[in-house]
Amino acid sequence: MKFERYRRKWSNLTEVIGGAPLAARPRLSTKAVACLKLGEDSLSEENYQTVAKVADLAEGRGLSVVVDGTPIAVFLEGGNYYAIDDNCPHQGAPLSDGIVFDKSVTCSWHGWRFSLENGCWLDSPKSRTKVGTYPVRVVGDEIQIAVS
Ligand code: FES
Repeated sequence: MKFERYRRKWSNLTEVIGGAPLAARPRLSTKAVACLKLGEDSLSEENYQTVAKVADLAEGRGLSVVVDGTPIAVFLEGGNYYAIDDNCPHQGAPLSDGIVFDKSVTCSWHGWRFSLENGCWLDSPKSRTKVGTYPVRVVGDEIQIAVS
C-alpha cells in the first residue's frame, strides 16, 4: 500500500516534468493542476495586440517583443504559438534566446527550464517560481498577444 502511494507520487512528478502531451497525463498533483490553471483568464478582443508577422518567427525559435513595456518571448513550437515573460526569474536572461524543446524553453544562461504552456519551472514542479504566460493567436499573417 505504501509503495503504491510513492509510485503514484513519482508518476505525478514525471508527468509534470516529462514530455507527454497534457491530454495523456491522467494524474497530476493538486499543485500541478493549480499551476496549469493559471493564465486561463478570458480576454476580450481589445486585449490582443499585434506583435509580429508569422514570417518573423521560425519553428523552434523565440522572438522578443515588448507589449505595454513588458518584455515577452514568443515561440513557435510544434506548430503552436506561445508567449511567456522574456525575463528568466533566476538572473534575468532573455528566455527568447533559450532552447525550445517539447513545449518548454531552457534558459541559455544556467539551464532552468520553463513550460511554454503554463510558465511553470519544470526543474522544480513544487516551486512557486514561474514565468507569466499570455494568450496568443494568429489573425491573417499577424501574431497577436493578449495582455490584460
Ligand atoms: S538566468 Fe536563466 S537560468 Fe540563470
